[in-house]
Amino acid sequence: MTAQIAAAYVVIGNPIAHSKSPDIHAHFAAETGQDMRYERLLAPLDGFVATVQEFIGQGGRGANVTVPFKLEAYALANSLTARAQAAGAVNTLKFDGGDILGDNTDGVGLVTDIAHNAGFDLAHKKILLLGAGGAARGVLLPLLERQPAQLTIANRTAAKAQQLVQQFQPYSGAGCILSACGFAEATQQYDLVINATSASLQAELPPLAASVFGPATLAYDMMYGPQPTIFMQFAASHGARVRDGLGMLVEQAAESFFIWRGVRPRTDAVFAALRAQL
Ligand code: ATR
Repeated sequence: MTAQIAAAYVVIGNPIAHSKSPDIHAHFAAETGQDMRYERLLAPLDGFVATVQEFIGQGGRGANVTVPFKLEAYALANSLTARAQAAGAVNTLKFDGGDILGDNTDGVGLVTDIAHNAGFDLAHKKILLLGAGGAARGVLLPLLERQPAQLTIANRTAAKAQQLVQQFQPYSGAGCILSACGFAEATQQYDLVINATSASLQAELPPLAASVFGPATLAYDMMYGPQPTIFMQFAASHGARVRDGLGMLVEQAAESFFIWRGVRPRTDAVFAALRAQL
């Protein structure tokens, strides 16, 4: 805890060496002409708050927060945006004259990637969200704000999906049917199927009926890698268009950059560079 940290911005996690955020923000800073530095900061598992406070003491202006500290960042912030409150987790901190603002840009990153980059208009669509953990909860509010006709949350443990439905019912517009089910009950065809489970990490597939996919379906995996995930392979084999979560990664970073610097960076060149490096 004695190292001097000169950068104004950091990504804090444990582990952190794998994070692509410094590369992404270096691109954004160069492209927008912002004079900023952004580094990786490893916090001890029992030392997140002390690490943040030391960084603030050294002039830190903001931080991205990743695994396993998003809940601690939520607890640390003394003001929270509505989307961070709904997510129950914070991935972006802004330090402002003693204030610690907590935000969550994951959901807007997902929605921007789907709506803008993939050209898929979410309004009045039928959406199937797979998973009911932190990743699913983090994106629900921005998805509902796009006014889909139907949003079904399917999870291995159906009770957890039901809890999310109860929490998010107040955010669901009059024209949107928000419901929960187990995987086996999701059988109708959806316009958009989003994999927010961590099943891909174990190279597993949520046990989904092939009937949820059709030629007009976009199947989106929040995970990404050099190869299409097992979920994307399954969806593609049933005729769906597929997309991985690399664009979400870049867009959530762009939103953090905007929160800190008030400037919206372009994301296309960074996306292409990251894709080429995978
Ligand atoms: P995260 O923050 O990545 O969302 P999490 O909160 O632990 O992590 O949630 C993991 C999600 O992936 C849960 O929805 C989990 O289902 P359960 O709630 O039933 O545990 C889901 N999940 C994990 N492994 C899975 C698998 N092999 N098949 C289907 N769903 C899986």
